[in-house]
Amino acid sequence: MNATLPTGDALLDAIDTLREERNAVILAHYYQEPEIQDLADFIGDSLQLAKAARDTDADVILFCGVHFMAETAKILNPDRTVLIPDLQAGCSLADSCPADQLAAWKADHPDHLVVSYINCSAATKAQSDIICTSSNAVRVIESLPPDRPVLFAPDRNLGAWLQRETGREMDLWPGTCIVHETFSERALMDLMVRHPDAHVIAHPECEPAILDHAHYVGSTSKLLRYTQESAARRFIVATEPGIIHQMQKANPQFDYIPLPGQDETCACNECPFMRLNTLEKIFLSLRDLEPALHMDEDLRVKALKPLERMMALG
Ligand code: 13P
Ligand code: SF4
Repeated sequence: MNATLPTGDALLDAIDTLREERNAVILAHYYQEPEIQDLADFIGDSLQLAKAARDTDADVILFCGVHFMAETAKILNPDRTVLIPDLQAGCSLADSCPADQLAAWKADHPDHLVVSYINCSAATKAQSDIICTSSNAVRVIESLPPDRPVLFAPDRNLGAWLQRETGREMDLWPGTCIVHETFSERALMDLMVRHPDAHVIAHPECEPAILDHAHYVGSTSKLLRYTQESAARRFIVATEPGIIHQMQKANPQFDYIPLPGQDETCACNECPFMRLNTLEKIFLSLRDLEPALHMDEDLRVKALKPLERMMALG
């Protein structure tokens, strides 16, 4: 019965009480709604969240992000309860690269190493030699033996950016993020003309046409750090605008302009999967201890190997 769900401050208090009773930790990605970021115990990018999940001693991990992130937490914590407020919180990149299709691609390229972006399912991870995130991808590519050819999945934009950054040729899976592929170059040019002092900061999941204009390209945590360390005072933000909440908290006096999508009237620069999580679903999830992630042990062990190789790089 959800008719008696608390609201407002009572809802926040009820979440706090449950968090304590369950000995739960709430992890949230930067693309979550500001109210979720504000109640989380830890906010971060994909790599920081995977490390926080690995290092926690809580009994319950409530993951406010998307499914592949909660799965990663489960791979690293088989004995803890891992909850995700909404099981439908998927990811277009993860969906673009089913494990059987990656396996067929691998079979056609038996000499290649497979590097998979963490935005993929556990089954796809299990087919990979090593995982990377947008934070450590350059380091991961540079760690590969130079004589081995490489398959990179599933984000072709991150892959193309990595090729430019590292000089390493790779075969790229044709996946994209529905949020980052929507950014409008025309809107970006208009904003750059209007705000010539602004620095363009972009996530590497953006199309090359956007990245070509960027003063700085990096993961969400690196974009946040750039706004704190660069000399600029105005930023055009080419990633999901949820990150702007932390930028504003750190430096409210600066100006952050979210880059709109092709249709400038829609909110298509917001990730529809990330935004499925709500305070009400967090409350219900902690109350009922579901939806919980369950994973076949054989699959978990296979998916753990390439993740551990990534984490061993530091
Ligand atoms: P990072 O936060 O790791 O940069 O990833 C962005 C993203 O799209 C997560 O789905
Ligand atoms: Fe996936 Fe893109 Fe959403 Fe990240 S922003 S979870 S890559 S759809």
